[in-house]
Amino acid sequence: MPKAATRSPSSRQGPGRGDVADPSLSPRGKGRIEWADREMPVLAALRARFAKEKPLAGLKVSACLHVTAETANLARTLQAGGADLVLCASNPLSTQDDVVAALVSEYGIPTYARRGEDRDTYYRHLNVALDHAPQITIDDGCDLVALAHTERKEALRGLFGSLEETTTGVQRLRAMEKAGDLKVPVLAVNDAAVKHLFDNRYGTGQSTIDGILRATGILLAGRSFVVAGYGWCGRGLAARARGMGSHVIVTEVDPVRALEAAMDGFEVAPMAKAAKRGDIFCTVTGNRTVLGSEHFPSLKDGAILCNSGHFDVEIDLKALAAASREVVPGSRANVEEYRLKDGRTIFVLAEGRLVNLAAAEGHPSAVMDMSFAVQALCSERVSKMRGKLAVAVHAIPPEVDAFVSRLKLETMGIEIDRLSAEQERYLGSWREGT
Ligand code: ADE
Repeated sequence: MPKAATRSPSSRQGPGRGDVADPSLSPRGKGRIEWADREMPVLAALRARFAKEKPLAGLKVSACLHVTAETANLARTLQAGGADLVLCASNPLSTQDDVVAALVSEYGIPTYARRGEDRDTYYRHLNVALDHAPQITIDDGCDLVALAHTERKEALRGLFGSLEETTTGVQRLRAMEKAGDLKVPVLAVNDAAVKHLFDNRYGTGQSTIDGILRATGILLAGRSFVVAGYGWCGRGLAARARGMGSHVIVTEVDPVRALEAAMDGFEVAPMAKAAKRGDIFCTVTGNRTVLGSEHFPSLKDGAILCNSGHFDVEIDLKALAAASREVVPGSRANVEEYRLKDGRTIFVLAEGRLVNLAAAEGHPSAVMDMSFAVQALCSERVSKMRGKLAVAVHAIPPEVDAFVSRLKLETMGIEIDRLSAEQERYLGSWREGT
């Protein structure tokens, strides 16, 4: 569990403060933030409106997100809206140190994140974000809200709403709600159609392949690529791996999803069978021990294992280490070699953490544009509905999906049809039939 003992007296730190690994990286970070912004026109339009209307004026917001160039543009948007924002990392390996440097020195946003930070530092940064006494939190994985519900309960006092970015985070929040432990209204940003249909599917699909290729440089064509989990992320990854010429094997526990994978043309098999055949394995289930000690004896010599699910629990690396004679850094960045006692070598990418963010740069900006537009609109909504939202995990109103998708289409130069009055009437009546 998180450690409150490592809390720092940071609430007195002013704007521009943060925990920055290398301030000299700021110019590069600024350049990358601006580059990403060119691909994020929906968010940019919201930022322009926020700058005029100040819907978040004076609100204390703490965000625990992957600190990337795209997140920086969300942070700028919240700041333009008048928020008093503190940002920390939602994963120890996803932080882009150049972006942190620019956020602090160029944009004056206190950001607490260092790539490769240890667990204590990770939780020290989360504690700093709660020291800020947020009225709104934004999470990617629910670590900040979980900390506020356990070791930092006093942080719940001023908190009137939370936003959650990811499937795993929403799953945790629903478990809290079911157990009667949830104390704050939450908007499940992940569940907006314009979020999971695009970010989870096309974002994870592309960025996971990107991470695997940057880490290994291998040819995917002709290889057996095992995708564990056929949720939106798994669907996207399987499609992209097939597009690169891999033979894709999907593993699932849900019969409907397994059937869907089969009818999408993928081989479906239990992991016990897939383990013998795969060259590359990627877990995207959101569950633990998907690849474990019962599978490791079957793996081919040279098999590559990685994970694109939120937490690093999907591959049982402790068990893999126990089966190993030694674990050594690979000859490439983000690769570790597990030299097994029986002579085989298994390669693990990015320590079993999110390979798309640790070995690559996360999802492309154009897809984060929609996810973060939803975040910005939902923070405005939480602010407007202050005190009126029930303590529960709330769906995102359909008008948010409609607004973001229309604006995205417009920025892509895509026109669509509108219902005629006659069609509207037809859809609204039941009398016309055969
Ligand atoms: N999650 C996945 N990709 C991301 C990105 N580029 N920025 C922030 N969060 C992400």
